[in-house]
Amino acid sequence: MELFDLLMRRRSVRNFQDKAVPEEVVAQLLAAANNAPSGGNIQPISIIVVREAENRKRLAGLVGEQPWVKNAPLSMIFCLDFQRVKRWAAMNATEFKGEQALTHFLIAYADVMCAAQTVVILAESLGLGSVYVGSVNGTINDTREAFGIPQFVLPVMVLSLGYPKSIPQGIPKFTPDVIVHYERYQERNDAEVTQAFQAKYGDFGKSGAYLEKAFVETVEADRQGGDGWMEWALEEMQKLEIRNNAQFLFNLRYPAERMVQFNRHLLDSMRKAGFSWDVNPTVEKEV
Ligand SMILES: Cc1cc2nc3c(=O)[nH]c(=O)nc-3n(C[C@H](O)[C@H](O)[C@H](O)COP(=O)(O)O)c2cc1C
Repeated sequence: MELFDLLMRRRSVRNFQDKAVPEEVVAQLLAAANNAPSGGNIQPISIIVVREAENRKRLAGLVGEQPWVKNAPLSMIFCLDFQRVKRWAAMNATEFKGEQALTHFLIAYADVMCAAQTVVILAESLGLGSVYVGSVNGTINDTREAFGIPQFVLPVMVLSLGYPKSIPQGIPKFTPDVIVHYERYQERNDAEVTQAFQAKYGDFGKSGAYLEKAFVETVEADRQGGDGWMEWALEEMQKLEIRNNAQFLFNLRYPAERMVQFNRHLLDSMRKAGFSWDVNPTVEKEV
């Protein structure tokens, strides 16, 4: 299959066959991840391969009981890892302070995601399906403890993989022109923004049908024995008087205030792992 076709067909898969991923396939995925681009080629990344039933269950619990994490035969915890490079620098009469330098952090985060997306694409080409699970950022402390993740290492993304049992269809996307700007950023007017989202989501319509299309996780979670997620979402939609797609996203699914309040917890967990980006006037002066 042409790579373009493969990329256009790729969907996040949350329903996996009960079939292990062969060892040589896992090895290929990991080799490709290791060969991904990396800023300065520093490779501040570690990948924890999770296959044992007990660990899959534990990981699923840590990411909000998303059933596909338990059911997938293979998950990878992608970690941003400054620990290795810090030790190497120290042993070589120098210092690496990535955990205090936001620029290192941003580049390292990008490195991790380059590696993860390389796995996604290779997996797809090998007949596997995968789904990212970003909610691991809500339980950094517990995930570090559960998987023995040391200081200066942050679990930033989980990727669950396996042979698909079913693949979602009709996932809404913008048309490419919405996200593309030639030569200069071209700010869209309100009508164009409205049109872009309207073309993506269509009419809000019936709530159940909307969830089938725009919140496939709820539907899939219930299919896999979740505890009434769909019912919960429909009730909340009614309670919060959700009238449109934007309200669904930012009043219910990602409530704006709660997202901001979450900063404290997130920053605390990062600090606990040794990361902090406070402005240091002494260092600033030296620079
Ligand atoms: C950064 C990131 C975090 C995500 N986190 C989750 C998650 O926690 N649970 C989940 O089921 N899907 C998660 N996804 C998958 C998205 O829901 C999915 O990519 C989106 O619905 C678009 O569908 P598609 O991947 O089929 O294009 C995540 C995707 C990304 C890129």
